[in-house]
Amino acid sequence: METFRCSLPATDLIFGKGSLECLGTEVRKIGKKALLVTGKKSMKRLGFLKKSCDYLEKEGLEVVHYGEVVPNPTVEVVDKGTERAIDNGCDVVVGLGGGSAIDTAKNIAIAAGHFEGEKISIWEFAGVHDKPRQITSKSLPVVAITSTSGTGSHVSRFAVVTNQKTREKIGIMSRFLCPRLSIVDVDILSCMPPSVTAKTGFDALTHVMECFVSKRANPITDFTCLKAMKLIFDYLPGAYNKGDDMEAREAMALADTFAGWALVTSRPILPHALSHPVSAFYPEIDHGVALGGLTLRIMRFNIERGDEGTVSKYCEIAKTGGEKVASCNKKEASKSVKAVQELLEKIELNVTLKDLGVKEDSFEDMIESAFTTMKGPIEANPVPVTREDILNLYSKSM
Ligand code: NZQ
Ligand code: MN
Repeated sequence: METFRCSLPATDLIFGKGSLECLGTEVRKIGKKALLVTGKKSMKRLGFLKKSCDYLEKEGLEVVHYGEVVPNPTVEVVDKGTERAIDNGCDVVVGLGGGSAIDTAKNIAIAAGHFEGEKISIWEFAGVHDKPRQITSKSLPVVAITSTSGTGSHVSRFAVVTNQKTREKIGIMSRFLCPRLSIVDVDILSCMPPSVTAKTGFDALTHVMECFVSKRANPITDFTCLKAMKLIFDYLPGAYNKGDDMEAREAMALADTFAGWALVTSRPILPHALSHPVSAFYPEIDHGVALGGLTLRIMRFNIERGDEGTVSKYCEIAKTGGEKVASCNKKEASKSVKAVQELLEKIELNVTLKDLGVKEDSFEDMIESAFTTMKGPIEANPVPVTREDILNLYSKSM
């Protein structure tokens, strides 16, 4: 075995039906005044916002609600939340919702924690600058309560934010971004409508497929990725078709957690690198949907150009997706594309970029954005890629 180095997840996890109940007793150990960060509608409508406030207040915590998070959250949304946290003297940030709410909570925790009297923006910490502001242990502690099974944000050290002015969507990365505590309650997850189940579930699948073939993969990643892939191939269609199938919901929640670990121990590759610019230029296109439009084409590209090791990993993906693979070669490896395509069809997400409203005249700017904001995932792709390759991949995904 080759020598390898990787980070390990650093989050306490409470997993299971009804686990939201322990929110107050757990957060009491971390802080006194919580900024509770949510999206605009779902958590309020479903009653989980009120439940969370009640659990926290029952244990003597003060709660300040910030409910303005939008999908693909922007710098403005984070900065406004940061001001709210600072003005109210919050000492812990709780994110209740999907990746958008949790990432916003994490980003607020960084900016509010580093406030020293001068106005502060999360963008100062973005890796697009020559000298971004350092993220240190001053970041406030984060508690994540996930309402989707897709981003792995509840256990990862990333927080994504979009700068609408520069059209850059980036993942801020730091070990201080791993939530201190994470709660995964299937009662919340079972409320996802089918379209949210599909796009978030496919996001989780791409995390594990990408981290598995990534140059940064290692035996720890391989184990969690294969386990998560199997769960997603087996259970995502069920969760999509029957939202109250608790076994399917639990399986997807586990897969999402393994996938979040994979993002910590390895690194995603080209589909993530190319999907971020899609949502940066077309904010109405959700992350998982953009991945639905790009993944198959990139899998074919990596198999066509991949070395033996890469091809054998795609053969493993094919097998995990239920395909019969006799001996491993490029032809057999392409069965992985068939397996993923069939899954996309089952969850009605087999889309083209054209279907999503992407225009060819934005390709050049999107490629530029991919090279500034997603250099890490581009470099982690098992096959080297040029600008021309990316242009081709975007064009063929139309
Ligand atoms: O906004 P509200 O009203 O809360 O409604 C949300 C939103 O409209 C709704 N929803 C969420 N949970 C629900 C629910 N509706 C009913 N029942 C529930 N249980 O679903 C919509 C989508 O929510 P969102 O949080 O945007 O989705 P997701 O979890 O896919 O998060 C996407 C964001 O995470 C980033 C993405 O780029 C995107 O910004 N990612 C974060 C990563 C990380 N931190 O490690 C990695 C990922 O690759 C990804 O980039
Ligand atoms: Mn993703």
